[in-house]
Amino acid sequence: MKFFIDTANLDQIREAQDLGILDGVTTNPSLMAKEGISGKEAILTHYKTICEIADGDISAEVLSTTYEEMIAEGDELAAIHPNIVVKIPMIKDGIKALKYFSDKGIKTNCTLIFSAGQALLAAKAGATYVSPFLGRLDDISVDGLNLIEEIRIIFDNYMFDTEILAASIRSPMHIINCAKIGADVVTSPLGSILNLLKHPLTDSGLAQFVADAKKMG
Ligand code: G3P
Repeated sequence: MKFFIDTANLDQIREAQDLGILDGVTTNPSLMAKEGISGKEAILTHYKTICEIADGDISAEVLSTTYEEMIAEGDELAAIHPNIVVKIPMIKDGIKALKYFSDKGIKTNCTLIFSAGQALLAAKAGATYVSPFLGRLDDISVDGLNLIEEIRIIFDNYMFDTEILAASIRSPMHIINCAKIGADVVTSPLGSILNLLKHPLTDSGLAQFVADAKKMG
C-alpha cells in the first residue's frame, strides 16, 4: 500500500519524506489556502517546491469547474513537473477532462468520490486514481469503509488499472482498515501516520531494555 501525505504544508511534507516511507502528496484548494497560498504564480511555485521536496505522485487540483477551463489549467499544472497528477472534481465536465488527460498520458486523480457509481465512471474515463472521502462519509454516519470495499470489488471484477486512493483519513484505524480492504493508496495527515508508530507496550518495553542495557555497562 502506498502512503501519501494529505497536506500543502512544506515542513510536514519534509518530515514525512525524511521518514523514508512517503510515496506521494495530495493537496486540495482548502489545504493550499490554509498555507496562505494565493494567486496563480504562488500556486505554481508552491507545487514546484513540493515536487522538489517529495518523491512520487503529487496531486495538484484544478480550481475551475468547466471542461475548457479544467483542461487549460490541468495542462499548465502538468507542465510544472513530471510527477504532477492533475486532480479533477467528480462532475460531468470532470469526466470529460479525465478522458482528455488520460488520452494525453497525463496522470489524474478524480476527487470528491462518495459513491461506487462515481468511482466506476472515473475509472471508465481512465482516471489514474479515484479519491473516495472516507472521513466525510463517516462524519454523516455513512460507513466510508464500505464504499472502499465496494470500489475494490468493482475494480477487481473488471481489472481496472485505476488505483483506489483512500482520502479524508481521520485516524490510524482508518489507515489499517484501508490496508485490510486493499486500498492501493492512503493519503493521510502527518498525525495519523505518526500515530501508527505508537504502542504503550513498545514504550514500556524499550524503557526496560534501556534500563537493563545500563546494567550491562
Ligand atoms: O484531499 C482530500 C481529502 O483528503 C480531504 O480530507 O479531512 O478535508 O475531509 P478532509
